[in-house]
Amino acid sequence: MCGIVGYAGHRQAVGVVLEGLGRLEYRGYDSAGVAVVDRGQLKSRKRAGKLLNLVEALERGGPLAGRVGVGHTRWATHGAPTDPNAHPHVDCTGQLAVVHNGIIENFATLRAEALASGHELSSETDTEVVAHLLESEMAAMAGVDGPARPGALAEAMRRVCRRLQGAFTLVAVDGRDPGAVVGARRNSPLVIGRGQGENFLASDVAAFIAYTPHALELGQDQVAEVRADQVRVTDFDGSPAQVREYLVDWDISAAEKAGYQYFMSKEIAEQPRAIADTLLGRVGPGGKLVLDEMRLPEDELREVDKIIIAACGTAYHAGMIAKYAIEHWCRIPCEVELASEFRYRDPILTRTTLVIAISQSGETMDTLMAVRHARDQKSRVLAICNVNGSSIPRESDAVLYTRAGPEVAVASTKAFLTQLVGCYLVALYLAQLQGTKFGDEVGSVIDQLMRMPAAVDRVLDSMDQVRELARELAGERCVLFLGRHVGYPVALEGALKLKELAYMQAEGFAAGELKHGPIALVEAGLPVVVVVPSPEGRAVLHDKIVSNIQEVRARGARVIVVAEEGDTRVRPYADTLIEVPQVPTLLQPLVTAVPLQVFACALASAKGLDVDQPRNLAKSVTVE
Ligand code: M6R
Repeated sequence: MCGIVGYAGHRQAVGVVLEGLGRLEYRGYDSAGVAVVDRGQLKSRKRAGKLLNLVEALERGGPLAGRVGVGHTRWATHGAPTDPNAHPHVDCTGQLAVVHNGIIENFATLRAEALASGHELSSETDTEVVAHLLESEMAAMAGVDGPARPGALAEAMRRVCRRLQGAFTLVAVDGRDPGAVVGARRNSPLVIGRGQGENFLASDVAAFIAYTPHALELGQDQVAEVRADQVRVTDFDGSPAQVREYLVDWDISAAEKAGYQYFMSKEIAEQPRAIADTLLGRVGPGGKLVLDEMRLPEDELREVDKIIIAACGTAYHAGMIAKYAIEHWCRIPCEVELASEFRYRDPILTRTTLVIAISQSGETMDTLMAVRHARDQKSRVLAICNVNGSSIPRESDAVLYTRAGPEVAVASTKAFLTQLVGCYLVALYLAQLQGTKFGDEVGSVIDQLMRMPAAVDRVLDSMDQVRELARELAGERCVLFLGRHVGYPVALEGALKLKELAYMQAEGFAAGELKHGPIALVEAGLPVVVVVPSPEGRAVLHDKIVSNIQEVRARGARVIVVAEEGDTRVRPYADTLIEVPQVPTLLQPLVTAVPLQVFACALASAKGLDVDQPRNLAKSVTVE
């Protein structure tokens, strides 16, 4: 949701913070702001709109000097995206500034209390009340101890956090405790970057990776006091806390556009490598899957008799595809659940239910809550996740990391394909463990998976036709996407991409469902994209979709077919034919999803829209 950066060191904080915010802008771009402390004085600037507006304001207003600072890029929850609602929020003294990601659920009570005790609040946000609570705590401590002492801001933060309900990452600076930047987290991400003579706080390592690869995971309900030469972490009650240190295994070039027009086009192009990386070294001796973190005995996995996949958005579509593979290879019943609905319908979970949580960011609150609910009910949870050390894998029993590298564009692409690879690997592993597939059968699917990077590469080589088509269709109002079997979730994914990037009405349907209602949408000239199953697989599936194509053609639709090379039977019915390499049916989404990603990206670009930062969205959704 929002992006946060904090810095204490030997450089000018404003430069480091703005650079970090630039890398976190994918998390929200409704407003941006910075605050720095210079010789005990706080200075801040904030502006509604993208980071560029803030940069221009800083250029006009003169530089903000100071070696300690915070910054924020916002995805609005409480209050419209205006200048007053932008972060940082300051207290009545103008000495203290705070930035926040998340939602403070008891803010109305706290706000009423702050107003009653004479504080003046000027925004509609839940965050501002934290600035005033911190002010009161600083004042109370000064009353006891005299003027603020080093460590006062961290102590004030602990006291305030103990009163807050909800999900929050908070980072604050104060002119009265000038060398420190203090962060706290509950149910929302915050990482520490440890440099030489400088330290960082950020929502994501991308904000500081240009300066240091050394990161510390701040745990749940912990406060970090970060100074140029020191990092101190405690629990909310003040006891010293242990934190895990790790080395970030990608560098700054992975988080830059590298000559591409958009992050999205770069990330689409990276898919062959991302798939290869996700497969690398995964199959150990005896064909066993190598998971990154395994806190699940094999005996328990042998007893799994039901699988529930919980995920959101694109990751949910990956889960829908995984269901076909899991049920076919493992013969274990598998349900796929929108994470946001999961715990509210009282799902039947037992010790022998395995819940698979799929998430690129590992911070999606709906999915995190599903994980917690499953574990409360004593089910085991396996995470398939892209971001190392994020909340979902940390709270799961086992983890398979997809190695897609940083995904910056809001629209998910390489994360989707690597989530699929992760799901296939988990399914094969369970199939082998439960004896529903022999080792050589598993080995043969793994061989086919190993050929997928080359297959995706071939798809990428032939995308000019798709870009041309996107330009041609840029003026359309509506596009339908149809598919059957694993092609159905691909159709949903194609529609989601087009909605989120091109703001068009785009709907995905199971092709067989069309005649039960949606066919009424079809009119002359309506573009209908059809994902056609391989004719080499179950012939009946292919025949049925050809009939569905006839049905929409008969009503005047313009049919765009995504089909396997050599599929001569579908060719006569295609107004536009997009060919993909022949691959096994269950793996087909790895090649058919790619033209739909390119299509949405090119169409949004043709409409002059912001491809990487579509309106109203944020990359990681850390509120429910
Ligand atoms: O980080 P996650 O995979 O948990 O995110 C889930 C969805 O928010 C995400 O896939 C979203 O649907 C994408 N922006 C779609 O492109």
